[in-house]
Amino acid sequence: MFKKKKALAIDIGTTAIRGLSLAKTARGAGIASLSLSPISAASEEREKAWKKTTWALIKEAGATHIIISLPGRGVLVRFISLPLVASGKIESMLQYEVQHQLPFPLDAVVWSYQILSQEEKINLLVGAVKKDLVNNLLNLFADLRVEIDFIDSDTFALLNVLRFSPEFERDKTIAFLEIGAESSNLLICYNEQILIRSLTISGNALTTAIEEVSKIEFSEAEEKKIKEGETQFPLLSSVLENLVTEIQNSIDYWRFTQKGPEIRKLLLAGGSSKLAGLSDFFAEKLRVETTPFNPFANISCPSQFKEVVEKESSRLAVAVGLALRQL
Ligand SMILES: Nc1ncnc2c1ncn2[C@@H]1O[C@H](COP(=O)(O)OP(=O)(O)OP(=O)(O)O)[C@@H](O)[C@H]1O
Ligand SMILES: [Mg+2]
Repeated sequence: MFKKKKALAIDIGTTAIRGLSLAKTARGAGIASLSLSPISAASEEREKAWKKTTWALIKEAGATHIIISLPGRGVLVRFISLPLVASGKIESMLQYEVQHQLPFPLDAVVWSYQILSQEEKINLLVGAVKKDLVNNLLNLFADLRVEIDFIDSDTFALLNVLRFSPEFERDKTIAFLEIGAESSNLLICYNEQILIRSLTISGNALTTAIEEVSKIEFSEAEEKKIKEGETQFPLLSSVLENLVTEIQNSIDYWRFTQKGPEIRKLLLAGGSSKLAGLSDFFAEKLRVETTPFNPFANISCPSQFKEVVEKESSRLAVAVGLALRQL
């Protein structure tokens, strides 16, 4: 009998397209294929570059099935508790709740849910996204003979990879911040209680700050930020202060509205988390232990992927979360 081939998880980001598939191994999970292709196109050309790179990636991997993801900033996520009901009734009860939370009609969105636990109550995460955003994503694959097994969101993928990692402990409140080029996603988890927020400040805002103060081109500012992070820190401090305020606002919502317990640890991922000095800055401002997150901590890595994993693990958290869907 032929075994069904694992789908290829594809994370389409502003600065790179990442393809990853995982396989079950005797000791858990291992990388079956991995690639990271940089995208350097300006925003107006980006869609074309995405299409070209994604197609090449699918062809190279010989993938027939894929899992893709929507950016966290386009997806509304809410934590909802329902009384225990038969599983056939969940959807109709949720429909009412979802409409209640949305600022636009239910038929303008597609929505889905994930059950987190069912004990005294059913705790669920519900995600809703505008249909146009989904259609734009699907357009990238319109002419390809490939089946889309799952459309995830970056934030749900991050939740998946966090829950799979040894950092995740029940009864311990963990905050997880992924800072990319154009999006920043924040998750706070305690047992089945979850807060998911998309923040407005990310890597490009830092580059723009250097660009404006130093009066240089964006690409030059980008290089300066990456190569001379430590010395550029004073130029970035006001943008970073704004980011801290956004994080603090979410923490306050978690503490006072959701009545969540105090955060014990902040984990960082995303390319921008590599900014020299950032981890110490957050630790000092938010007064919480801050460490880098390793998405591959529970995943074995064959030697041919070691170099990419060591260098780019922070930029692969979403891809790992997507690929875990099929394990
Ligand atoms: N050493 C570094 N110091 C500071 N910033 C860095 C460093 N390395 C990468 N970055 C920044 O990380 C960002 C890219 O990270 P990542 O690959 O996670 O984003 P993305 O997934 O492409 O974007 P998005 O998810 O926001 O669409 C860029 O803004 C880049 O400048
Ligand atoms: Mg990203």
